[in-house]
Amino acid sequence: MMQAYRASLLHFTADPALVNDEQAYDWHEDGLLIIKDGKVVAAGNYAQLKATLAPGTVITDYSGKLIVPGFIDTHVHYPQTDIIASPAPGLLPWLENFTFPTERKFSDSEHAQNVASFFLDELLRCGTTSAMVYCTVHPASVEAFFSESEKRNLRMVAGKVMMDRHCPEFLQDTAETGARDSEELLKKWHGRGRQLYALTPRFAPTSTEAQLQLCGELARAYPEVYLQTHVAENTDEIAWTKSLFPKARSYLDVYDHYGMLRPRSMYGHCIWLDDRDRERMAETGSAVALCPTSNLFLGSGLFDFAAADAAQVPLSLATDVGGGTSFSMLQTMNEVYKVGRMGGTYLPALRMFYLATLGGARSLQLEGTIGNFVAGAEADFIVLDREATPLLARRCAQANSLEELLFALALLGDDRTVAATYSAGVKMHQK
Ligand code: GUN
Ligand code: ZN
Repeated sequence: MMQAYRASLLHFTADPALVNDEQAYDWHEDGLLIIKDGKVVAAGNYAQLKATLAPGTVITDYSGKLIVPGFIDTHVHYPQTDIIASPAPGLLPWLENFTFPTERKFSDSEHAQNVASFFLDELLRCGTTSAMVYCTVHPASVEAFFSESEKRNLRMVAGKVMMDRHCPEFLQDTAETGARDSEELLKKWHGRGRQLYALTPRFAPTSTEAQLQLCGELARAYPEVYLQTHVAENTDEIAWTKSLFPKARSYLDVYDHYGMLRPRSMYGHCIWLDDRDRERMAETGSAVALCPTSNLFLGSGLFDFAAADAAQVPLSLATDVGGGTSFSMLQTMNEVYKVGRMGGTYLPALRMFYLATLGGARSLQLEGTIGNFVAGAEADFIVLDREATPLLARRCAQANSLEELLFALALLGDDRTVAATYSAGVKMHQK
C-alpha cells in the first residue's frame, strides 16, 4: 500500500560544508513524500508527484509543517536516562557518583527493559529515529535494548560495554568474558531486522591491554560490525590515559595500536585531539560524535571545527545523555551552534540539520538506508511544527529564507516542535 504525505520537504544529498548549498539539499515548499512498504518511493514537488500516486492512495496533509528525515543521535547511553541532570564537577566524579551506581541496576532484565522502553519512546517523542547506543557491561542490558527496539522496528546500533578495570567490581567483565559475550551478542543481533551491533569498550582507562587486544581482534574478524568508544573528552581523563599507556603517542593512538580505527567506528567527543590524530581518523574512515550539551555541562571543552574540517574528519551530532542534558537533537543544535561560535566557527542551520541527519548516516556508512529521502531509503521521517510555541510561530513568520527558518527551529525548537515521528513508514509518535 502506498502512503503519501504533503508538507514542506527538506533533505540532504551532500554535505553543505563541502559543496554549494543548492547542491547539498533538496527543498520543496509544497512537497510530497511517497512511501511504500516502509521505504521511500519518491520525494519532491507536490504538483509534479501527485499524478504518480496509485489510485486510491490517501494523502496525509501536513501542509504548513516541515517533513525532514528522522534525527540520528550517534552517541547516547540508554542506562543513564535516570541520571540525566546529575550535578558533578567534571567527568570522572560524575562517572563515580552517578553513572556507575545507576548502571549497576542493569543486571536486572526487568529494570533494563523498563528503561529501554522509556528511552526509545523518549527518542521518538524528540524526533530521533536512529541512535548509536551504549548499554551496560551486562549482556541482559543489550538483550533488553534490542528487544524493545525490535518491537518498535527501529534502526538502532548498540552494544555491550566492555570494561575490566578501574571501575567498581560489580561493573567489571574480564578480557575473555567481555569478548565472548560481545561475540555472542553480535552474532545474535547484528543484522537481525533493523538492529546493528557495536563493539563497545567504554574508554581506554577502563580496559586492560588484553581487553583492547581482543576487541581489536573482534573488530578485524567482523568488519561489518560497528565499534564505539570515548576519546579525548576531558583533560583529567587524558592525563590518566597517558599514565596508563605511556608508550602511546596520544590517547587516540591507544585505539589505533589495537586496530580500532576503521570505517564503522564512532569516537565520542574528540575535543583534545591533535592534527596527527585527526589525520588518522580521516584516513581510516573513523567518525566523530559531537556531544555539545555534554561537553558544556561537564565542562569538558569546546570542539575545534576548524581543525576537524581542515582534516576532513566525518562528523555527526549526538546527545550523550546522561552526560548530555537533552534528548532533543534540536536543543543539541542550539548548543553546538554556540560551541562553534566560541571557537570562532559559524555553523549555518543547514549544516546543523545535515549533521543531525545525513551526516549521521554517512558516519555510520548507512547512506541510502537512513538519513535522507532517496528512493529505496527506509521511511524514517518527522514532522516539524513551526508554530509549536507562540514564540516560535512569531519568529518563523518573520523568516525570510530557508536558512532563517531552520535556524529558528534549531535555536528555539525542542520536543514540542516534533508534531509526529514515523519509523519505516509507521507513525510512532504524535503530539
Ligand atoms: N567516558 C567514559 N564513560 C563515559 C560516559 O558514560 N559518559 C561520558 N560522557 N564520558 C565517558
Ligand atoms: Zn558517552
